[in-house]
Amino acid sequence: MNDKNEADNVSAPGDARKKQTILSGMQPTGSLHVGNLEGALRNWVRLQDEYWMYCCLVDWHALTAEYKDPHVLKDNIFQMAVDFLAAGLDPERCAIFVQSEVKEHAELHLIFSMLITVPTLTRLPTYLEKKQQLDSYGFLGYPVLQAADICLYNAHKVPVGKDQEKHIWLANDLASRFNSLYRKVFNEPVGLFTETPLILGADNRKMSKSYNNHLPLDFTEKQTLKRIKSYYTDPEKVHQGDPGHPEGCPVFLLHQVYTAGASEEIAPPCRSGELGCVDCKTRLSDNLNAALRPIRDRRAQLLAQPDYVWDVLSAGADRARQRARQVMDKVRSAMKMNYRGNKK
Ligand code: TRP
Repeated sequence: MNDKNEADNVSAPGDARKKQTILSGMQPTGSLHVGNLEGALRNWVRLQDEYWMYCCLVDWHALTAEYKDPHVLKDNIFQMAVDFLAAGLDPERCAIFVQSEVKEHAELHLIFSMLITVPTLTRLPTYLEKKQQLDSYGFLGYPVLQAADICLYNAHKVPVGKDQEKHIWLANDLASRFNSLYRKVFNEPVGLFTETPLILGADNRKMSKSYNNHLPLDFTEKQTLKRIKSYYTDPEKVHQGDPGHPEGCPVFLLHQVYTAGASEEIAPPCRSGELGCVDCKTRLSDNLNAALRPIRDRRAQLLAQPDYVWDVLSAGADRARQRARQVMDKVRSAMKMNYRGNKK
């Protein structure tokens, strides 16, 4: 990859298209689960073919919640990087890096913090939801730091879930405020809201590590079967033979992702009562385990070479930093805050 081309958003040699830049971010919460895989990762893996990708493990964002135990971050970062690679993110095409390794995130965050009012931040639903537990100055600034993550690479698009829509809007607003106050430096980023399948956890809530209802990628096949067996199912279908309702069933949602022809193969026999929940879950577990096998194999290989994983992160940070520095030079120069000699 040619970094100069990348920085200028010019087409790569032999590539007629001008590639746009995408930045994605995820808090390092440790190893990932099927919800992360289907909701984000698979999409990122597809996007790396078409765009310059920056994939940022946002440890400073994680610090808003983890400030008492920051020592957990290192292993979380490692595990998440392993999952990113195992799922198919390619370090040749996608800079995978840790946010705090590129200090320019903090610099741009500070500058952006001057361009936004406190009431704009205190009105955000993400703030209102958690301010009882987290009322720090840093937490208030969480979306400003996110805007800095995005604009620091001059990203055009940001693949995120709908829950992040207001944050992307805020990044867009900060970019355009900066551009109109000083000089046009930033693209005005927009969200890329790709449809992803709904994945629920064992208790029929959103799949989340914090609910412990998740299907981790690093589960063994046996653990996977056990977790699937514990899944919530239609309370009206108690015995085999009772008719079921696949439309309200989290197991059926997973079948729709992992079982070819689920609508014909699974739904009708569930409805008629012919297919019992135990069989249905076993079939799901078989299919899910088969689909995850290549990812798990690659995971095991990566765990055996931790130095490689850390090297990927450090090379990713070097590439990201190069781009970030170019953008920050433009920022300082637009603000007339470059104090080295007479350079404009
Ligand atoms: N706030 C995002 C989330 O909770 C994580 C994040 C931080 C992010 N910086 C980002 C996402 C930049 C996209 C782009 O999911």
